[in-house]
Amino acid sequence: MTDSSIAMKGGGYYSKNTQGAKHVIDRTGVHIIEELAKIDIRDDDRPFSIVDYGAADGGTSMGLVARIVKEIRDRSKSRQITVTYTDLPHNDFSALFRLMYDPEMGKDAFLLRYDDVYVSCSGTSFYSQIVPDCSVDIGFSATAMHWLSRLPGRIDDHVHAVGAVGNQWQTFCNQAQNDWQTILVKRARELVPGGMLVMANFCIDESGRYLGNTGGANMFDTFNALWKELAADGVISDAEYRATAFPQFYKTIEQFGMPFNEPDSAVSREGLRLKLMYTGVTKCPYRAEFDQVGDPVAFADAYVPTLRSWSEIVFFGGLDSSRPVEQRRKIVDQFYSNYNALVRKEPEKHAMDYVHTYLVAVKER
Ligand SMILES: C[S@@+](CC[C@H](N)C(=O)[O-])C[C@H]1O[C@@H](n2cnc3c(N)ncnc32)[C@H](O)[C@@H]1O
Repeated sequence: MTDSSIAMKGGGYYSKNTQGAKHVIDRTGVHIIEELAKIDIRDDDRPFSIVDYGAADGGTSMGLVARIVKEIRDRSKSRQITVTYTDLPHNDFSALFRLMYDPEMGKDAFLLRYDDVYVSCSGTSFYSQIVPDCSVDIGFSATAMHWLSRLPGRIDDHVHAVGAVGNQWQTFCNQAQNDWQTILVKRARELVPGGMLVMANFCIDESGRYLGNTGGANMFDTFNALWKELAADGVISDAEYRATAFPQFYKTIEQFGMPFNEPDSAVSREGLRLKLMYTGVTKCPYRAEFDQVGDPVAFADAYVPTLRSWSEIVFFGGLDSSRPVEQRRKIVDQFYSNYNALVRKEPEKHAMDYVHTYLVAVKER
């Protein structure tokens, strides 16, 4: 599987269906504004550069970027500001620009509100260096770096590394550690001395919780059970079941910390220093609404699309490419419709709480 298997639905679908992601981003804003207060912002300096790595359609981080731009503008009337949104090449960057120029985004539409702010996009993966050395003041990323640079192997009896065991788990773990080091080294090179890297990444927390596994039904076990059921019913083949795996890994806080803790690591040698790291759970907004309103059908109909927005490409990609596209679409529709039926039946068991590691690192001056 190549990185073209990773894509969020386009046309603005992503940010409408991922309110939880916005809550996470808003939380990182506290740390960014705190660090920003320590940076000298002068009118006549080079452009101040903000980069959002793995931005999707940019909708979820627009409020945060607007806050940063306002903060800089309050302190300098004329400092030019660049905002670079990065994602994979097939990301829907046109949806991003439509949101940037959409007056309905209100106070978050920073391009419409402030002068001397320059937005551009890059379709280069965060596993490569994206911008020149020593050019980024604020590097930011949310809920993106659990996607590995490649699918490192198979998982025989599950669809996600959280359900892998033995050597198969180890293969994913090794890939994740190498990938993490690559990400940090590239970002360290891009940062200006004194620049900051602020990230919120999916993780396994100190209590063993992770996305969709905070009590009740485990979301990835549910994905696996439903996909396996399609194989048992002959809708998909056993080979297709076994070929399906998320190219993802959720690290623990210790694993996130490793490259920073070793003084001789490539990351330490690049001068990147960890300042803060902790884990936090963000409650599933769809489930919260169900708890208030109590309508299982409305919950299932809102909740399953948010799961689908980021996972369908993996299930679609697991299907044999010799099947006509229409047939593959129907199978995937059936899969999510089965998930929807489960949620309608026992809504109180389902929730996709987010579990993140929040991390602030600064490049030495
Ligand atoms: C769950 S979305 C997060 C979007 C946004 N940052 C947020 O928090 O709402 C993950 C994004 O990461 C992107 N992504 C995955 N692997 C990537 C890579 N190697 N380089 C750049 N972006 C990547 C995906 O295409 C997707 O848009």
